[in-house]
Amino acid sequence: MKYIYIKTWGCQMNEYDSSMIVSLLQEKNQYFLTKNPENADVLILNTCSIREKAQEKVFHQLGRWKKIKNKNSKVIIAVGGCVATQEGKEIYKRANYVDIIFGTQTLHKLPHMISEVEKLRKLSIDITFPKLEKFKYAVLPKKTTYTASVSIMEGCNKYCSFCVVPYTRGNEISRPCDDVLFEISTLAERGVREINLLGQNVNAYQGPTFNGKICYFSELIRLVAEIDGIDRIRFTTSNPLEFTDDIIEVYQDTPKLVSFLHLPVQSGSNRILQLMKRSYTIEDYQSIVEKLLIARPNLQISSDFIVGFPGETEVDFEKTMMFIKKINFDMSFSFIYSNRPGTPSSEMTDNTTIQEKKKRLYILQERINIQTMLWSRKMFGSIQSILVEGVSNKNAIELYGRTENNRIVTFQGSPKIIGQFVNLKIEKIHTHSLKGRII
Ligand code: SAH
Ligand code: F3S
Repeated sequence: MKYIYIKTWGCQMNEYDSSMIVSLLQEKNQYFLTKNPENADVLILNTCSIREKAQEKVFHQLGRWKKIKNKNSKVIIAVGGCVATQEGKEIYKRANYVDIIFGTQTLHKLPHMISEVEKLRKLSIDITFPKLEKFKYAVLPKKTTYTASVSIMEGCNKYCSFCVVPYTRGNEISRPCDDVLFEISTLAERGVREINLLGQNVNAYQGPTFNGKICYFSELIRLVAEIDGIDRIRFTTSNPLEFTDDIIEVYQDTPKLVSFLHLPVQSGSNRILQLMKRSYTIEDYQSIVEKLLIARPNLQISSDFIVGFPGETEVDFEKTMMFIKKINFDMSFSFIYSNRPGTPSSEMTDNTTIQEKKKRLYILQERINIQTMLWSRKMFGSIQSILVEGVSNKNAIELYGRTENNRIVTFQGSPKIIGQFVNLKIEKIHTHSLKGRII
């Protein structure tokens, strides 16, 4: 019996890729997953390079695994994801005990690469970008969970000036519509009730159909809503660019699409948005939100923000703060600008001190926290539909589930209802979770 150990960090796409790797290896090569790296025959690192000093983190992790390999030279070490795609053979130059380097689009080759290393005992590397090939080899996980993510598109063509994704995940390409629908139907048959459509810019989806037509994102959502068993639909991430009226209309006629939208704005200053090459203005963003609120008056919006982009002044930052209040964003992600080698913004002059950037991030997060709490408080006494996901980690007599707007609610109930939707009355509001009672 052979074991794999996999460590993943980064975005949801990386998590998705890792689950593909695990199912593929379990299916084809009869590998088993272990939680202890010391027991593994193959150690896999699948990492992202969007923000943190990911390269350094990779080498620290590899250093720890080198000790395992020193004890057992047969252990195979594989490095993949965005860092591997960006660094390529450089990884091997710094850590010559690495056996496999695979990219974001070549993870399906891992079983073959592993057998090759077993036989030849020399570096196997493939960080090419074969279009959508990995999906041909994908094996759906047998384990039933009640929520699942399905990638509908890969890569990104937007080239925002700060971002590495177009270089690490390749050009934007949509999966065929029928493949996506078939995958979701299969998941629904296995008990999945909530689907998260995944991609860097899902709203730019243009999937070919079997009869030679193009299926756009709005159409895709409506088709997913027709699948028996699927009762809740989310998507991550969308972009204010190409957030067209036909998508806004779906909020009017498709109740299965949640009343919660993550729409990254990045900054509230048009000058910064232009430097970021985001290709929209805050007025465009606001107009989308206004139309959305007509289509779905109870819609809550969350976002991503970057503070301390090169050249961001106190005035630009103030504009972001004003915009946060104006839109009344719910829980959001915010990051200090991280200089990524090879991106256009890494060449821009950046005079703001890190102390100042940290201060801005703190102010921004404090404000978001207040707004998040206010949104939660509005839910007190309300009736919320919850997809029951399992038994609470903290209290074995309680179950937990998620509301449409992504809040975790704990409540008492029989484990028999796990995997079903129930209505709860919200009776307590905590900062990070809610408590409810079945009605
Ligand atoms: N496709 C999404 C973003 C994907 S990256 C979009 O259109 O916005 C996820 C988030 O990471 C981004 O929204 C951005 O806020 C953040 N991010 C990306 N590159 C970054 C960088 N160099 N520094 C800081 N944050 C970054
Ligand atoms: Fe990155 Fe901009 Fe695409 S943030 S993922 S280049 S939309």
